[in-house]
Amino acid sequence: MNRSIILGTGSAVPKKILTNQELESMVDTSDEWISSRTGIKQRHIAEDGDTTSLLAAEATRQALEMAGVKPEEVDMIVVGTTSPDMIMPNTGALVQKHLGASNAFGFDVYAACSGFVYALTVADKFVKDKPESKVVAIGAELLSYITDWQDRNTCVLFGDAAGAAVLSGTNDSDRGILSTHLHSDGRLWELLHIPGGGVVYPPSGEMAERRDHCIRMHGNEVFKHAVRSMADVAQEALTANELGPDDVDLFIPHQANIRIMKKVAERLEIPLDRVYVNIERYGNTSSATIPVALDEANRSGRLKPGDLVLLDAFGGGFTWGAVMMRW
Ligand code: COA
Repeated sequence: MNRSIILGTGSAVPKKILTNQELESMVDTSDEWISSRTGIKQRHIAEDGDTTSLLAAEATRQALEMAGVKPEEVDMIVVGTTSPDMIMPNTGALVQKHLGASNAFGFDVYAACSGFVYALTVADKFVKDKPESKVVAIGAELLSYITDWQDRNTCVLFGDAAGAAVLSGTNDSDRGILSTHLHSDGRLWELLHIPGGGVVYPPSGEMAERRDHCIRMHGNEVFKHAVRSMADVAQEALTANELGPDDVDLFIPHQANIRIMKKVAERLEIPLDRVYVNIERYGNTSSATIPVALDEANRSGRLKPGDLVLLDAFGGGFTWGAVMMRW
């Protein structure tokens, strides 16, 4: 049976760090409030010259090097992002340019914080169709450009980062991606959205003045939906593979809030020592949280061949999804 397998991972963050203490001088907040309500201590923030595609390309370079794959061997680049360099061209095409991946085609998927799980699912299907192909799945965001730095409800939460995975086919029946599970519910779009900048509310001076190109969120409502949907889709992935919580070696949930992660793990009965948490260092980097965590777990030796890994995401749309794999 042909499966896709991850051959290499990579991640990158901008150099500049913004701490909770520094945020105290920007909005009416405190390190104590941010740490206790979210688990976040600091986040990386882009500076002049940083772009989403450059950060994505840096993460991909590392992933290709680990995989032993040359840029010209790549067939497809799929990027999950909600903060592209430009509306057009797509980020995948720009990553292709930065890498010199001359034989690849690139495009973006647009699923907010679920972007990497969506991109990985598309990559998995492509590799299953063409097992000899080399495909890059990326989650990359510079959320600092779509964050309202005067809104304490949101600006303490987000950060910038990129993560990448290189996939190809395998005949090894014991390893690779076992199943993918995607969902969305557009009826709930207003709970987490960016009002301006599209065709409904086109760019204008007034729009910029009101900072309506920035993320707007009903935090409490999003929290409840995130817990329920992430627990449900992770359970769906376990059931589909006839597995239970004890089988999971590493659970990598989207890093939006430590309290969401703990509640989801509790519902699934997965102990916290098998939950990957790095939100304290990066904040919520949307589609980048899962691939960055995956790369850290991989490079630190926390992942061993044969380990059962469960990825679980939730984001604006709403979108949510899970990926079950044998490392
Ligand atoms: N610093 C200090 N106080 C703050 C604050 C901040 N940065 N942000 C909000 N508050 C205040 C609120 O104004 C409110 O004050 P009030 O009681 O006087 O009205 C109080 O803290 C509680 O606000 P509330 O929104 O109920 O807090 P919460 O415990 O729900 O935590 C979030 C807020 C945003 C951290 C939480 O709802 C959350 O994480 N939601 C999901 C976010 C998410 O996952 N988003 C992305 C999905 S991919």
